Amino acid sequence: MSNPIYLALDLPRLDAAVALAQKVRGHVGGLKLGLEFFCAHGHHGVHEIAKVGLPIFLDLKLHDIPNTVAAAMQAIHVLEPAIVTVHAAGGRAMLEDAKAAAGEHTKVVAVTVLTSLDDADLARIGVNGGAHNQALRLADLAQEAGLDGIVCSGHEVGAIHQRWKKGFFVVPGLRPAEGSAADQKRTVTPRAARDAGASVLVIGRPIARAEDPVAAARAIEGTL
Ligand code: C5P
Repeated sequence: MSNPIYLALDLPRLDAAVALAQKVRGHVGGLKLGLEFFCAHGHHGVHEIAKVGLPIFLDLKLHDIPNTVAAAMQAIHVLEPAIVTVHAAGGRAMLEDAKAAAGEHTKVVAVTVLTSLDDADLARIGVNGGAHNQALRLADLAQEAGLDGIVCSGHEVGAIHQRWKKGFFVVPGLRPAEGSAADQKRTVTPRAARDAGASVLVIGRPIARAEDPVAAARAIEGTL
């Protein structure tokens, strides 16, 4: 089994991101680059990180009309990302066109509901019925549109996995030790997410900000 941990390289400096990726490369399965990284360092930055030799996850959360998203997917084709994100709320045609424009080896996964939005925020943009129901609805839409999977929290992955057995599930927001966070009830460990059906575990600060990132990555790997 390959290592499911993708390290989120949320560092503003390219040299620091490359150095961290080099350091932990033997203990993670891939590297996640977000919108902030891509806006700051573009294709050049991705090429530099790709030299580390691990699969690249471009977390760009694309959301626009189908033609524009398809063109953006084609423009990043050359970077050969293993995973790219789009917003499920872009609608079925956008999802289908994004998948059709992606490279053969690129998994296109949909973001359902941003965890920064609560039920009240959703009601204000006309989405009634709550975040959980909306996430399940959009997961079904992503599946119907032929995407590879979705991004979801460790709390939802079990329920969504039940509805989509062959889905590819990317789970962020993980914390290695249960009970270490102030908000204990909402902590999900990498192991628990994995057991619930996660395909990829996105981990940033618990590794990147550790005193010894290699030891932190190895410790998490050892729990899986
Ligand atoms: O919290 P941590 O540093 O491990 O986050 C890793 C990555 O996961 C970050 O890039 C963050 O943007 C993303 N994330 C997310 N949804 C969450 C929590 C984190 O997409 N609920």
